[in-house]
Amino acid sequence: MRNAKRIKFDSRYPSIEALRAKAKKRIPGFAFDYLDGGCNEEVNIKKNTDEIRQVELKPDYLTKYPGLSLQTELFGRTYDSPFGIAPVGLQGLMWPKASEILAKASLDYNIPFILSTVTTMSIEKASEITEGRAWFQLYHPTENEVRNDMLKRAEAAGCEVLVLLCDVPTFGFRAKEIQNGLSMPPKMTLSNFVQIFGRPQWAWETLLNGQPNFETLKPYMPKNLNLKHLGLFMDAMFSKRMNEEKIAPIRDSWKGKIVLKGVATEVDAAKAIKLGLDGIIVSNHGGRQLDAGESTIKPLTRIAKEYGSDIKVMMDSGIRSGPDVARSLASGAQFTFMGRSFMYGVSALGKKGGDHTISLLQTQLSQVMEQLGCTQVSDLPKHLI
Ligand SMILES: Cc1cc2nc3c(=O)[nH]c(=O)nc-3n(C[C@H](O)[C@H](O)[C@H](O)COP(=O)(O)O)c2cc1C
Repeated sequence: MRNAKRIKFDSRYPSIEALRAKAKKRIPGFAFDYLDGGCNEEVNIKKNTDEIRQVELKPDYLTKYPGLSLQTELFGRTYDSPFGIAPVGLQGLMWPKASEILAKASLDYNIPFILSTVTTMSIEKASEITEGRAWFQLYHPTENEVRNDMLKRAEAAGCEVLVLLCDVPTFGFRAKEIQNGLSMPPKMTLSNFVQIFGRPQWAWETLLNGQPNFETLKPYMPKNLNLKHLGLFMDAMFSKRMNEEKIAPIRDSWKGKIVLKGVATEVDAAKAIKLGLDGIIVSNHGGRQLDAGESTIKPLTRIAKEYGSDIKVMMDSGIRSGPDVARSLASGAQFTFMGRSFMYGVSALGKKGGDHTISLLQTQLSQVMEQLGCTQVSDLPKHLI
């Protein structure tokens, strides 16, 4: 067992909302919009958190209480908390070296870190920082050769869990990103330059660390790709829609665990089981893809009830606090992930952001469990009203 590093969180930022507010002041508007926004009218993103918070839990007060443990077993590892860091693309745009900061914090706090194919750190670097514990989320490439090469690199890096994505059959329609020129192909508008000048610390750190790049994709990208052609390259690079024909050969060749992320229905959960996958993440991509869709807590509750004993059922989207983690676990999730919460933390506090956010969430979750009289994470469903 590693000796987990522990810091007390900074009392100026005792909530994810406080980190979000600080992040908004610290990073350029286009980067904040990219992180913070949902798709279309942003109905789904709002419902995610609102509907998690409708879940109610009941306490057992008159009970003996020997203390609590947040430790949770998942795919043969015992993690120190029942939550992990979801894959987020372009992390270095929000804060320089954000991927590296979160990967290191995940190791120190013994929680899972999932690397996105399209973020700003390579598979190899993620593996080095996390001592081979990082999970890898594959955006399915159009070319099988590229797919095989990425899988080979992930395996060589010691990656134990592969995450396949099924909820991006098309790029989400995000109005703010389109206005800011972050759609494909991206543009650097005058307004974006003005925003950068208004955020000197971000600009200085970015200057020091260099422009963020798609490090995992570098070997497959033409040299000197300009912004106009980057969009065309990305479009051609990924085959977007996932299906059983694409998953089956990966299942045959990948020796580790496979998790399907973006599951929103019982039908797709059943298909994942039939395909021999090890886990699913019930997710709507944090409200970035289908504005007319359900919040995640609803399908999570149904899927966990029906399939929770056949496959590991995990969840993300909308979780912003320890109580939200408790509500999700009580509703049947066996593990939870967060995307924005951790990125708000790093955007607000830089190098300290990963440690702070994990520590804050652990403290909040411990308080809820103690209040409930719940000694272990797997007992949370007993407290569901
Ligand atoms: C800015 C941003 C970029 C994202 N990029 C990816 C990605 O590259 N791959 C992926 O599987 N999910 C991606 N996601 C989705 C997250 O993995 C996760 O499902 C989502 O953030 C969960 O919702 P939450 O932010 O409310 O916690 C992204 C989310 C955000 C906010």
